[in-house]
Amino acid sequence: MDITTTDEWATLRDAATAFDELGLRALFAADPDRAEQMTLTVGDLVVDLSKHRVDATVMAGLVALAERAGLPTRIEAMARGDRINTTEDRAVLHTALRAPAERTIEVDGVDVVAAVHDVLRRMAAFTDRVRDGDWTGHTGAVIETVVNIGIGGSDLGPVMTYEALAAFHHPRLRGRFVSNVDGSDLFSALRDLDPATTLFVIASKTFTTQETLTNARSARAWLTASLGDDAVAKHFVAVSTNRDEVAAFGIDTNNMFGFWDWVGGRYSVDSAIGLSLMLAIGAERFSEFLAGFRVVDDHFASTPLDRNVPALLGLIEVWYRSFNKLPTRAVLPYSRYLHRFPAYLQQLDMESNGKRVRADGEPVACETGPIVWGEPGTNGQHSFHQLLHQGTTIVPADFIVMGEPDHDESEFPGARGHHDLLVANCLAQSEALAFGRSAAEVAAAGIEPALVPHRTFPGNRPSTTIMAPALTPTVLGQLIALYEHQVMTQGVVWGLNSFDQWGVELGKMLARDIVSELDAPDDPELTHDASTNALIRRYRDLRGR
Ligand code: F6P
Repeated sequence: MDITTTDEWATLRDAATAFDELGLRALFAADPDRAEQMTLTVGDLVVDLSKHRVDATVMAGLVALAERAGLPTRIEAMARGDRINTTEDRAVLHTALRAPAERTIEVDGVDVVAAVHDVLRRMAAFTDRVRDGDWTGHTGAVIETVVNIGIGGSDLGPVMTYEALAAFHHPRLRGRFVSNVDGSDLFSALRDLDPATTLFVIASKTFTTQETLTNARSARAWLTASLGDDAVAKHFVAVSTNRDEVAAFGIDTNNMFGFWDWVGGRYSVDSAIGLSLMLAIGAERFSEFLAGFRVVDDHFASTPLDRNVPALLGLIEVWYRSFNKLPTRAVLPYSRYLHRFPAYLQQLDMESNGKRVRADGEPVACETGPIVWGEPGTNGQHSFHQLLHQGTTIVPADFIVMGEPDHDESEFPGARGHHDLLVANCLAQSEALAFGRSAAEVAAAGIEPALVPHRTFPGNRPSTTIMAPALTPTVLGQLIALYEHQVMTQGVVWGLNSFDQWGVELGKMLARDIVSELDAPDDPELTHDASTNALIRRYRDLRGR
């Protein structure tokens, strides 16, 4: 179905012509209860939607649009295990990864929940051994460093969650994350490590990803150079769906933790892909992390759309992106430990909804996925917030802030006021963005007339504020699930398959050809375009080939 031909779409298109008049000052003045009514709760997350440029008509229109797009039935179909990833003919069941053990979800007649819990038990047993020092390396030394090698979802989920939950790390184990095929990534991660105390987790759904296998081979060479080939069994474990390739690489499949084709890479941190996180925070905390996802899954599946937090977040994004042509969204965690969260969401959102054809293969007739980016506050305030406040592009922003500091304040008894200042800045930013400072207010403050235009803030720049008590494993799980379901909501309205990623394939294929041309012993015959041919020759010259 082309959603843009429906009456529901037309209603919102009409409403969008008055977008310029949807002023936040006026909206707040007209309704003293706006903040209260538009602040919703899911689990531990309090989500303030009131600083969005929407009124009751727009919100009702968006909910009607979601109904028309069939969001409730799509949510049910996903939870049931229907093959909604049609271009890859797969179910989409990341919600099964956190389903309670007593639930049954079948794919091709097999209960996937039982399989999930089986892997979780194996992960927990392995994790306990490593953390307790019972699993030792080849020389008998305990493991001190876990190096996760993976890329995309096999890196961003592990590294983001590891960094976010730094307060819960095991005191002996440190984590390192290697993703880029740029050798500097691996070499700088290994430079100060002792092979005897290092455990590699090779994380790859397919176990065919060039970057990961290149890094894994080099890591194995680094290890065996000092400990010999027999050491691999105690220093390499794999997380993958591809048993054959894991065995072909030389990793004992007893030390492999599996998952399934119905888990997309960017939806996989709560599968065995989260092994490096479990090693860091322990199995019990990991199950709290999963419980957090579950709270939001249940809310998404059972709450009417007009109070359904992830659905409303997704619909508001559709309003900005498709009806008001706002190209981008900023994610601004006021938490240093969430510093990789924007990058994580970049993959989740842009790989899911960065698409120009619908699931049925027809071109979409509206703007789809936004460009997602961001940095933690307060650092961003001293770089790109200038544009957010006074630039010509309106950038809706997500502010994320915790009641408690992420660190243990008692460790730094002399330090004062950090968290209050952090939170004050977060709240000040969303206030300034929303309400600005008019020219009249600036002039009334005694600013000289020539400077008034420069010191005026237009306001009307929308944002969501998500506040939670503390950055715990549970809260982190809730946050991730919130965004997963937001992304799904958008994809359903746009009619996309949010679960494939064909757009990454062409570059991978071309790189395979080019790499053999770069290192060919004799001048290769080049058949690319003139620019690419010349760049290949230039590189060969630089390398003396
Ligand atoms: O290149 C895209 C992608 O397929 C992502 O979707 C995925 O997360 C990443 O590559 C890594 O894939 P794998 O886990 O199979 O190595």
